[in-house]
Amino acid sequence: MALDGLRNKPTGGRYADVVESIGNTPLVELQRLSPKPSVRIWAKLESRNPTGSVKDRVARALIEDAEEKGAIGEGQTILEPTSGNTGISLAMICARKGYPLKVVMPENVTPERTRLLEMFGAQIVYSEGSKGSNGAVELALQMSAGPDGSSYYMPYQYGNEANPNAHYNGTALEILEELDEVSAFVAGLGTGGTLMGNGRRLKETFGDGVKIVAAEPMQGEPVQGLRSLDDGFIPPIIDLSLLDRKIFVTNRDAILWTRKLLHEEGIFAGVSSGAIARVAVRIASELDEGNVVFVVADDGWKYLSSGIYTRPLEEIEDLDATVWW
Ligand SMILES: Cc1ncc(COP(=O)(O)O)c(C=O)c1O
Repeated sequence: MALDGLRNKPTGGRYADVVESIGNTPLVELQRLSPKPSVRIWAKLESRNPTGSVKDRVARALIEDAEEKGAIGEGQTILEPTSGNTGISLAMICARKGYPLKVVMPENVTPERTRLLEMFGAQIVYSEGSKGSNGAVELALQMSAGPDGSSYYMPYQYGNEANPNAHYNGTALEILEELDEVSAFVAGLGTGGTLMGNGRRLKETFGDGVKIVAAEPMQGEPVQGLRSLDDGFIPPIIDLSLLDRKIFVTNRDAILWTRKLLHEEGIFAGVSSGAIARVAVRIASELDEGNVVFVVADDGWKYLSSGIYTRPLEEIEDLDATVWW
């Protein structure tokens, strides 16, 4: 029976299992935060993936790439450094496919991340909190070079082309299916996979008509999931020449804009999405017309215990900017 007003796309498809259902995320317009009607801002809601982040795409690509290359077989232990989301995605996928998983993660991430990893059966190795995600990378590389190294397969999202390819062959194609024109694409810079994969595909399609813009945290003001290139580690998958601009965002602005997404648009997102939205709105205000697409990398559930959604704004103003949310 046809229902009036119901578009023929709302079910999201049919899949053999939850891993296959990754991707196909909605593109949602920000009508209230947009500075002018002639420029439309679109949020690609990667928070709508099975474990709530963009990293489901990447984790699937990393594991399936290793399977296709014959690099992993039944029961192979997977080892990966992550600030949280990739670990959670790998934990779900490895549990589903039967691979034991060890995740190296900074000790000061929110407790929700630890609970989620434990829930999916991953083993956690903590790295020094003050070193952020670089400390996790360092420790995982040491472990893979150590005496037990040969028992691990490390997908290493920072240096594995399967990471940007998940976007080149997934996220970007979904955006192109919906929009005939994109003036700017804005994303956070963590491993660089989102920016590289989408950037490459969108440049191939629109040439210099599309600007690829990175939201970067200020040095010394960590935003969970993002990195400052000035901290000294440039992931091998990053080709800086693909980026048209890098715009810095303070920790405080990231939180303020996470709240704006929630209160003005009803989008419950993680803190990096606040930073990215802030940059998307700034880029939109500089354009006369066109579409600006930005990536909501994850949802807000994992950050609830930090109080960022509910604490009075005056307290947010006084936040210790070096706290790693
Ligand atoms: C919350 C969050 N935002 C943004 C990013 C950045 O994505 P990418 O690694 O593709 O640069 C990440 C990556 O870890 C993340 O966890």
